[in-house]
Amino acid sequence: MFARALVTLLIALNLPVFAHAKTWRIAVVSDMNQNYGSVQYTPALIKAIEHIRQSDTSLVISTGDMVAGQRRGLDYEAMWNAFHNAVSRPLAQSSIPLLPSPGNHDASAGGGFANERNHYRNTWNQFPAPRFNGARAPEDRVEFLNGVAQNWPFNYAVTMGPALFIGLDATLAGELINDQFTWLASVLEKSAPYTVKMVFGHVPLYPFAFDRATDYLGAGDVAFALRLEALLEKHKVNYFLSGHHHAYFPGRRPGAVRFVSVPLLGTGARTLLTVDRSSTERSPQAFLYLDFDAGGNITMQALKSPALTPIAAASLPAAISIPTRDAADCARCASFPPTLFTDPTRRTLYHRF
Ligand SMILES: [Fe+2]
Repeated sequence: MFARALVTLLIALNLPVFAHAKTWRIAVVSDMNQNYGSVQYTPALIKAIEHIRQSDTSLVISTGDMVAGQRRGLDYEAMWNAFHNAVSRPLAQSSIPLLPSPGNHDASAGGGFANERNHYRNTWNQFPAPRFNGARAPEDRVEFLNGVAQNWPFNYAVTMGPALFIGLDATLAGELINDQFTWLASVLEKSAPYTVKMVFGHVPLYPFAFDRATDYLGAGDVAFALRLEALLEKHKVNYFLSGHHHAYFPGRRPGAVRFVSVPLLGTGARTLLTVDRSSTERSPQAFLYLDFDAGGNITMQALKSPALTPIAAASLPAAISIPTRDAADCARCASFPPTLFTDPTRRTLYHRF
């Protein structure tokens, strides 16, 4: 009773609650949609949400592609309503906040999809209302980080206990629109008090999967890619979580940042980029749990869904490597910028952790 009162007081005073050995669990879900305009969700997604609700989860992050837009004339109301029925409302009933980030099928910043971006903004401003009032415990309360510009539900920064979560508006390859680099730097300048730092968004910094070898934030601008990576390293970001590639990989580069390609829960599984494609299978439908404490200790597990069996690290390729030749499933691979490789001889982008 006294401990709970103390925690409440510390939170009221906006002081970090590091005095007790609490562990927080968050879940990460991604790429939950199916064919254009669909209002159906997969058994894998339904099972994942059911498991998350029963697993003492404090928060859920979505790395995008929640509905199947990016095409004109769809019934966006019905699509978002179906998503909320499958995901947002069940989580809200269990007092678990959901942090969205836009995918290209939710709110593409590409030309011609302003209407879809409006729908995205409206639906997340309406649901849940108010946004973060449903925390299970005081130390699980999710709040916007003070003193930085917030562009909910596109790019924004929130805190929960010792953790800072930064969502990006990353629906396009080759750029971060609206000068989010400067915005991200301004948020990270205020990140020192947080022992757990995660950045999440739809498009990855560098590619993970066949058929998406050109879909990454650093595409076409090596200097920008390396600047962004250096910014994450400088501020000791622990995890950079991305979707879009529909293939699970826990990656690391020479620095300390973990780059995780979040698995899909919808349809359209892809194969991880390796020099020899025949050696790997399509990545399974799955979702992630990340557990952390105030000391900055973080563990991650991937669970296949609906089977709910763990994905063993040893079952994944040891590295993501870019093939030497262009192919239908590997556009511009032959000319992939060599300065991005961690091992130029093997053309490696990420090692498994
Ligand atoms: Fe996508």
